[in-house]
Amino acid sequence: MKTLIIYASRTGTTEKAVQMIAEKLKETPDIINIGAVKKTDLSGYDFILVGGPIKMGRLYKPVKQFLAKNRAALMTKRFGLFLACGYPQELENYFKVILDDAMREHAEVLTDIGYAYYLENMGPVEQRVVMQLANTQKSIEAYKPEAIQKIADVINGK
Ligand SMILES: Cc1cc2nc3c(=O)[nH]c(=O)nc-3n(C[C@H](O)[C@H](O)[C@H](O)COP(=O)(O)O)c2cc1C
Repeated sequence: MKTLIIYASRTGTTEKAVQMIAEKLKETPDIINIGAVKKTDLSGYDFILVGGPIKMGRLYKPVKQFLAKNRAALMTKRFGLFLACGYPQELENYFKVILDDAMREHAEVLTDIGYAYYLENMGPVEQRVVMQLANTQKSIEAYKPEAIQKIADVINGK
């Protein structure tokens, strides 16, 4: 079974999560950063896993655009979506805004993988805001290993 992971990442969290998921898959997936590569060919893949971060309540634009453009194709494949997000209590709302009812129903994976704040990957203003809001001087990693494992299990067919 051939898997494609499509993602975009603003500050590196989603990218790292993709690597963690890929390491757990029985068959090596193809991986495309949709923030860098605009054209994608989904034919030949059985499972398409999409991942992206939430900022200010919204899914990162390259991922949002990918989902809109490829809705029809995604509905013909096994499909999953994961989010990097700091407010998991909002997760259900995020998914309702991002995917219509039929796509949510079709998805085999709908989860968050936790979040991180990589200060070194932010501009000075964003850095200051995050340091204040999160009350931290250092980068923070808060991944959810169990969610990452569960995504891999679904794709591996466990
Ligand atoms: C400026 C800023 C705004 C954010 N807004 C939200 C938000 O509205 N909801 C949420 O769940 N997480 C929010 N987050 C947390 C991000 O989703 C989290 O940092 C994530 O790990 C970023 O993923 P990335 O590194 O792949 O871009 C925000 C983070 C930053 C830095």
